[in-house]
Amino acid sequence: MPNATLETIPLLAGFGVEILGFDARSADEDARQEVVRLLDHHGAIVIRGQDLTAADQVAFTRVFGEPAENAGPDYTVKEHPEVFIISNKMVDGRVIGDAEAGTAWHTDLNYDKRPAAYTILHALEVPAEGSDTLLADTCAAWNALPDDKQRQVDGLTVHHSYANLVARSQRTMTEEERVAYPDVFHPLVRRHPADGRKTLWGMSTTTPNGIVDMPNPEGKNLIREMLEFATQDRFVYRHKWRAGDILAWDNRCTMHCGTPFDKSKYTRHVHRTWVRGEVPF
Ligand code: SIN
Repeated sequence: MPNATLETIPLLAGFGVEILGFDARSADEDARQEVVRLLDHHGAIVIRGQDLTAADQVAFTRVFGEPAENAGPDYTVKEHPEVFIISNKMVDGRVIGDAEAGTAWHTDLNYDKRPAAYTILHALEVPAEGSDTLLADTCAAWNALPDDKQRQVDGLTVHHSYANLVARSQRTMTEEERVAYPDVFHPLVRRHPADGRKTLWGMSTTTPNGIVDMPNPEGKNLIREMLEFATQDRFVYRHKWRAGDILAWDNRCTMHCGTPFDKSKYTRHVHRTWVRGEVPF
């Protein structure tokens, strides 16, 4: 149990906290472990005013665990491949990041055997309006689900395909991707490893083929129904960005979604790191 106490403000009643008086570069080990505990317990954290290089972000990410490698098109920082660039910035006539990353509800790496435990975003430049990030508290959604629905969905397994995600960007899978990401099967209701709490999970817009032993369209419709339930406004925190923000979430008890902004008017430049998680149970 960490000894540090950090001042916090809730983001929503019962979900997420903003942490005050914390500097990700200079914090001692106790304070860092307290940040990990806060993220495990609350599902999301915001830390404002952080001046981080890509190397600083990798060091901060390692506090939470092993960084996960990035999949798909190579928009990573050259010396730090763990850091993915979400950006519409143009350099020498080409965009230097993925400008469309994550603009549909999903959890990170749920097409992998060991999906991401945590995602850490650090904003270097943000638009004056738009590009909010939405985070849904899927534990609260599970708890609010009527008993008969809980009984219906608990124990179901979702079939995820990376190919579905690739198809959305109108390209075909490379041979490397085919080998790295075979189809995976994950529970629709999983437990958080920190305390065993249950959550609806993985009803991503992007990867499911359906539910094992359930024909489509029933399977896909049930996934969509659970996604719509979990992403109602009452479960969603909307993050309004300022440059220097760290927004981190626990993918094991949340879903998230980026939102659009006027790319002809504004630049958005964000660094993203992932921490590898465990096989969901
Ligand atoms: C993501 O889903 O990886 C990024 C979301 C965002 O940029 O708001």
